[in-house]
Amino acid sequence: MEILKSLIGEFDNKEVESYSLRNSKGFGINVLNYGGIITDVLVPDKNGLIENVVMKYKDINVYKENPSYYGALIGRTSGRIADGKVIINDNLLEFNKNYGINQGHGGNIGFSKKFLNVITSANEDEAYIEFDYLSPSGEEGYPGNLNLKVRYTITEEDELKLSYRANSDEDTLVNLTNHSYFNLSGNCKEDILNHHLYIDSDFIIEVNENSVPTGDIIEIGGTPFDFTNPKTIGRDIEEEDYQLNIGQGYDHCWVLNGGNDVKIRLYHKESGRQMDVYTNQNSVVLYTLNFPDEELLEWNKKPNRRDAIAIETQSPPIGRDNVFVKYSLLKKGEEYNKETIYKFSIIK
Ligand code: BGC
Repeated sequence: MEILKSLIGEFDNKEVESYSLRNSKGFGINVLNYGGIITDVLVPDKNGLIENVVMKYKDINVYKENPSYYGALIGRTSGRIADGKVIINDNLLEFNKNYGINQGHGGNIGFSKKFLNVITSANEDEAYIEFDYLSPSGEEGYPGNLNLKVRYTITEEDELKLSYRANSDEDTLVNLTNHSYFNLSGNCKEDILNHHLYIDSDFIIEVNENSVPTGDIIEIGGTPFDFTNPKTIGRDIEEEDYQLNIGQGYDHCWVLNGGNDVKIRLYHKESGRQMDVYTNQNSVVLYTLNFPDEELLEWNKKPNRRDAIAIETQSPPIGRDNVFVKYSLLKKGEEYNKETIYKFSIIK
């Protein structure tokens, strides 16, 4: 396994480094020391052609603000906090409303916009990059000094494992994820409407018109949200459905069934690329890039709606009146320990 480091720019006089991790077959990732951002996931197709299967900006400077959170580590909490308000231990916490009337993706300067300490390691079977960050108490309004360790590992079996560990010296909120947008056609050659998707889930979390959880869950059998039998993402995405309408496409949280089986499977027939997702997280937010930004992609074009799908394994976002807060609560001294594995294979 090989790890190379290169200096690719500067944000506020700090060096932006890119780390490339490769296995012996050329499968691997490129990752920044800023925001834990994954810029490339390089995967062979059925003819052995290695291409990038995640969305990537052309200009490195765009990653400073990263308007659509391409590839970023999200925290302390992923998704929305309704009205930016939560009560913990009888204390009202008020967060910046950086997402309309809500807080989103950790606030104004969440983990996706932080320089992180890096260590790397490689042997014959695997290579990893580990990020270290101490988030001080009060940062973006969250209580507790939070000690964070996030590790991205690649293996000879073409797996990418993301593991997240954290602990705090006060009760706090933690709900971490990665915001990579996948497109298995490679280098964003086509949109994702013809990708087949399977999700091991029978329920989504209902959202209101502000895209925050109401507290109810919806049984999805037979609805456009039902992916228990694999179907193309495009098959039902334009159906008349109140929940679909709110997101202008899929932008919802599926409650994952228990067990160690594949939780999500994404397959692109023409390239033969398949991605299986395993996780110990209880939910996944899927977002079909319903509102792309205007920034140029690596491949000299602007992104279009439905060009990629973000697969964000996490706990449910937070609604009004502390709805679902308990799933993001990290008690003082407890260990947060989550893992998500993306396993790539070729199906001819
Ligand atoms: C959210 C979307 C949001 C996107 C980019 C996703 O995780 O669910 O609503 O538009 O991130 O910020």
